[in-house]
Amino acid sequence: MRINLTVNGQVHEIETKPGDSLLKVLRAQGNFGVKHGCESGECGACTVLLDSKPVNACVFLAAQAQGHRIETIEAVGEHPEQGWKHTSGLHALQESFVESGAIQCGYCTPAMILAAKELLDHYPEPTEAQVRDVLSGILCRCTGYLKPVQAVMRAAALMRGEQVEPLEGVIPVPPDFFGEPPSFSDQIPQSDSGTPAGREVLVPTRLMPRIQVTPEAESWQRVGKPEKKVDAVKLVQGKPAFTADFDKRDMLIAKVLHSPHAHARIKHIDVEKARDLEGVAAVLTWQDIPRVVYSTAGQSDPIPGPLDSFSLDKKVRFVGDRVAMVAAETEQIALQALELIEVEYELLPSVLDSAEALKPGAPILHDETEYVNFAESDPSRNLAAEVRIDIGDVELGFSEADLVFEDEYEVPKVQQAHIEPHVAITFWDEDDRLVIRTSTQVPFHARRQLAPVLGLPIKRIRVIKPRIGGGFGNKQEVLIEDVPAHLTIATGRPVIYEYSREEEFIASRSRHPMRIRMKTGVKKDGTITANEMYALSDTGAYGCHALTVTGNTGHKSMALYVGDGKYRVSPNIRFYADIVYTNHPPSGAYRGYGVPQGFWAVERHMEKIARELELDPIEFRLKNSIREGELQPFSTAWSEGREPRPETIETCGLEECVRQGRAAIGWDQKFGVSGWRQVPGQPHLRKGLGVALVMQGTAIPYLDMGGASIKMNDDGSFNLLVGATDLGTGSDTVLAQMAAEVLGVPVDDIIIYSSDTDFTPFDKGAYASSTTYISGAAVIKAAESVSLRIRQRAARMFNESEEHPPVNQEDIRLVDRQAISPDGRTISHSEIAHETLHHADQEQIMGVGSYMSPVAPPPFAAQFAEVTVDVETGQVVVDNLVMAVDSGVIVNPLTASGQIEGGMTQALGYAVCEEMVYDSDGRAREKDLRDYHIFQAHEMPGLTTIFVETFEPSHPFGVKAVAEIPLDGVAPAVGNAVFDACRVNIDDNPITPEKVWREIMKIDEGQG
Ligand code: FES
Ligand code: FES
Repeated sequence: MRINLTVNGQVHEIETKPGDSLLKVLRAQGNFGVKHGCESGECGACTVLLDSKPVNACVFLAAQAQGHRIETIEAVGEHPEQGWKHTSGLHALQESFVESGAIQCGYCTPAMILAAKELLDHYPEPTEAQVRDVLSGILCRCTGYLKPVQAVMRAAALMRGEQVEPLEGVIPVPPDFFGEPPSFSDQIPQSDSGTPAGREVLVPTRLMPRIQVTPEAESWQRVGKPEKKVDAVKLVQGKPAFTADFDKRDMLIAKVLHSPHAHARIKHIDVEKARDLEGVAAVLTWQDIPRVVYSTAGQSDPIPGPLDSFSLDKKVRFVGDRVAMVAAETEQIALQALELIEVEYELLPSVLDSAEALKPGAPILHDETEYVNFAESDPSRNLAAEVRIDIGDVELGFSEADLVFEDEYEVPKVQQAHIEPHVAITFWDEDDRLVIRTSTQVPFHARRQLAPVLGLPIKRIRVIKPRIGGGFGNKQEVLIEDVPAHLTIATGRPVIYEYSREEEFIASRSRHPMRIRMKTGVKKDGTITANEMYALSDTGAYGCHALTVTGNTGHKSMALYVGDGKYRVSPNIRFYADIVYTNHPPSGAYRGYGVPQGFWAVERHMEKIARELELDPIEFRLKNSIREGELQPFSTAWSEGREPRPETIETCGLEECVRQGRAAIGWDQKFGVSGWRQVPGQPHLRKGLGVALVMQGTAIPYLDMGGASIKMNDDGSFNLLVGATDLGTGSDTVLAQMAAEVLGVPVDDIIIYSSDTDFTPFDKGAYASSTTYISGAAVIKAAESVSLRIRQRAARMFNESEEHPPVNQEDIRLVDRQAISPDGRTISHSEIAHETLHHADQEQIMGVGSYMSPVAPPPFAAQFAEVTVDVETGQVVVDNLVMAVDSGVIVNPLTASGQIEGGMTQALGYAVCEEMVYDSDGRAREKDLRDYHIFQAHEMPGLTTIFVETFEPSHPFGVKAVAEIPLDGVAPAVGNAVFDACRVNIDDNPITPEKVWREIMKIDEGQG
């Protein structure tokens, strides 16, 4: 059918099908700013304005839009950078989103701007509650909404013609600023009424983190400054920056048939009818492609885990496992073809409980002969990996304790829920090389790992990573690229495969659920004498990241509390883990990489011990926690894929984090104060405070490597090529800042590009909180070699004049786009570039750097939570989260604080509502973003971030990791706050109203 659509003021006559969504049609017309995040109106990424009202284009039929005015992000603001055109520039909202750091991956940004625009068109003076309300229809998994809300408020002020304060980025405070709680507590965002459910909102938000500035950073021009994200302008304009924002003539659509059974053998599969369907280009089953065993975990070589996966297999091991793949001219035909595939299954007994899976006689998932063991894996026992670490003499430590505390804890399977689904496009280029354009965190690992699977040499594969709409570890998996690649190989045509939201839930990866047993020996004075953890971890049907995620669970969380006195010198720590196969969908990497699971158990356990011994929970923790100058106790016992080597903690700002955080949350005025616990006039409500101390790692020592190259251009600008992958974190920006600092130029003179396996140097990819540290060090090395050459050429140019004393290159400074001699003469970068490229002894000034770290300096943090519990219903409302973080020097406080806010928000879901549940047949309960609830803008507590800077000596700019640590402490801090409020211990998160209510009932009935 032909319809007329008026899009951004232009009428288009479009051929469409009756069932086509407006989303599909708009994107087909090139309006790539309209994003796909689901198919059922839940995420809001597809928001457009229809007659000035926001609608979800994915659930709106294109035909219904005839006769209406449609506005997409492409019509908002103008684009002053486009050649000779001089226009008025970005809309105030776009400007404000850019300046305020409201963009991380940017996938939700066009929708947010459109929704906010509609609000401001009608309400030029909105309240924060109104802004949050209008943004509540658009899910953002990255930001925690704080900065987007502030960006809208700021834009509203700008549009009203008001003066707004310039964003200087940081609030530098003297070290004792937060040390005066009474004067500061008035400024703390307070919850309004404490009404648990459906409160209208809201607490004031703050745009900027508070930060203690490291003295070393004070002289820097670019590092430590809130520079705008280098990709922000294109993202606020909805430019076609993401994987799927790309068209290729004759592109086929891929779909996969997923298993309806948890465990079955494929006895017979008949695809003839599907192949005969008009418009179907290929149907592939396990019989049609090479049988190559591999691991989908995107990790360095050798993969630290078993090889147990096939692109297609004759056996299925979970509901959602692959059965067949199809490529067709349209999505509809592809889906129709899936229905025509006839499969005869031989059902096998399944095992869904990790303890059952280890028992003799349990159904065995991996009986294939091709299985390749890694270390202790044993498929005949459903054991994907095991960890056995003993440090010191644990039994002696227990025998020396006055009391031994034992308890069990449980953590659920949860989803990364990035808004951009997994998506990959494959095609042959003109040299018959396979191009894979994919939303991946690990382009170089993907190329290496896919080569044998596809039967192509590495040199015939090119992986391109465009902008990524969030990944959070789920794209550290070579998860779907093989599907379109096999289909391109089979058909010779370009193929796109994009997960639906349901596929994200049933057939991607998730956080490992675990049962964790803790045993801790303690003296009466609170000295920990021995600490033991056993984790039973469910890797699901495949062992991707099985060993490394669960290894990290103990490696980080059990390293924090070493004990005091002689135990501090020689701690007694045991960490054992079994990582088992079950017929659940596979677990994998999720931001925090095993550590949030560990800290749920450790920090709930520490709280119980402190309460039982009537010790101050903070003092008890600090008495036993690791300190600067001490050995990371696990460093000599365990390392990912390499020999362990001793590592000393060079910097630890944990005590200062505690001091700042407790002041910011008002701990001393509230904790243990019975009057504060009560909410006046609401006897069913109780308030509580909780704390958790946490540590993470920075990169993987002696293993992961990053590379960078820098080339100088005629005008003194630089191309910086990195293999590192910015998945929305802002890593491209901080890498550009470091290069700019070394080269003495503004950040916009650094044209950064990441990543393309044909052009950019190798990098292990974005994981393990390593990009700023590892890839950053590589960038600095490359920049320093360019700087050296610039200074050498500048010295030569200075010395052409005989009127001045000779200049040595080492005395030349690079500042403000110029080389400055000791006597104050200057030569601009562009003059040097012209000289070297065109005039004398021509050369291309270029530098290459690569870096691998011998250490993994841990960031530390103190996480505080304030909650209100309704003791009649069990409802928990988190009112405030305060996180004080030692991540070393903060290269960009704007992007780093966004990481903390977004991370805390994800962790808040882990604390109170996120959970993936399966029925007894292994079928998922949560298949969409309605059933799987992630926090929305109007539900947020107050978020406060404080950076306590230390200078990590192993990095030129003193940095440590930021990205993962905010996932670690929120859940236990909330759990501890719930105990503080109503004296119930919830040992298995999420802390749902039902669990709290049941525990309260037990107390009321005298069982608690
Ligand atoms: S609401 Fe339309 S894509 Fe999610
Ligand atoms: S910035 Fe909102 S989803 Fe990434």
